[in-house]
Amino acid sequence: MEKRLMRLRRLMEERGIEALLISHPVNRRYLTGFTGSSGWVVVTRKEQILITDFRYRGQVKDQAPHFEFVEHQGNPFADVKQILDRSGVRAIAFEENHLTFSQHRKLAESLGSLQTVPSSDLVERLRLIKDEEEIQRIRDAVAVSDGAFERILKEMRPGMTERDISLRLEFLMREAGAESSSFDMIIASGPRSALPHGVASDRVLETGDLVTMDFGAYYQGYCSDMTRTVMLGSPSERQREIYGIVLEAQKRAIQAIKPGISGKEVDATARDYIRDHGYGEAFGHSTGHGLGMELHEGPTLSYRNERGLEPGMVVTVEPGIYLPDVGGVRIEDNVLVTDEGYEVLTKSPKELIQID
Ligand code: GLY
Ligand code: MN
Ligand code: MN
Repeated sequence: MEKRLMRLRRLMEERGIEALLISHPVNRRYLTGFTGSSGWVVVTRKEQILITDFRYRGQVKDQAPHFEFVEHQGNPFADVKQILDRSGVRAIAFEENHLTFSQHRKLAESLGSLQTVPSSDLVERLRLIKDEEEIQRIRDAVAVSDGAFERILKEMRPGMTERDISLRLEFLMREAGAESSSFDMIIASGPRSALPHGVASDRVLETGDLVTMDFGAYYQGYCSDMTRTVMLGSPSERQREIYGIVLEAQKRAIQAIKPGISGKEVDATARDYIRDHGYGEAFGHSTGHGLGMELHEGPTLSYRNERGLEPGMVVTVEPGIYLPDVGGVRIEDNVLVTDEGYEVLTKSPKELIQID
């Protein structure tokens, strides 16, 4: 935590920020370790303070020993003002993407003549590069979803519904220690597999279906996010063809990953391959996204990201082909950017699995 604070202060200094108010719960947890659902963090050049209420008295001391604890009496912004007054700071930056309009109004009222300044991408910038502890937690989250996938393969069969699969996966992940799913899982079978984000329905699985399962574990504050598409019965020629194309595109995109390559170039690796095989129109989303405490965070693997990847980043690689009359295929792994290139964290097999 001390290292994270040091990196934050360096960034604040670069941007001429003397005091920062952090309101985003994930950023708060990242910086402090505090897992409570309510709290405000103020970081100045010399001090770091966590403002919350009496419910969290003991918890703050345990989880955030490096932070001064201030217990507010209903208006945390009154305490923010006191902190600024005693440090002689005249302006505080706030997270413009997270503070609500009404919270900002109350903050400004409480601060009187002190200024508020919008800021963005400070703690998020730090979170792009995962430290050892974070990488371990992501590995653990990935192992939980890999384990659930291995089990569901043994259990799934025609006659089950998409919801049956989703409930079972949820149970298996929680049994293995997950706090929850990392998002509302997608189980899309048969024609529904052509819906990139078809959440589990009551549809009954049938022989001849492609079944896309996109799910992940939320484990010790970190997410995993994997997709596998399996075949019930024998694939048609078209189903086999699109599976092969997505798999090759996904492998090529992963192999392209190394420090310095841009998100745009990784995206183009998968996209060009799919387009060159005639299915460019059927791949309408980006190739991947950063993954960590949030399911979707920086860096994005899309045409919009021209910045180079760096060691310590964790991304998903998840191209797909979606054909309304045939079904869809998506394959998604979680990948760590290393000094030399990449490491695929997801261990589940990805050759076409056929379930009879
Ligand atoms: N299902 C969300 C994702 O894979 O990004
Ligand atoms: Mn996913
Ligand atoms: Mn994803």
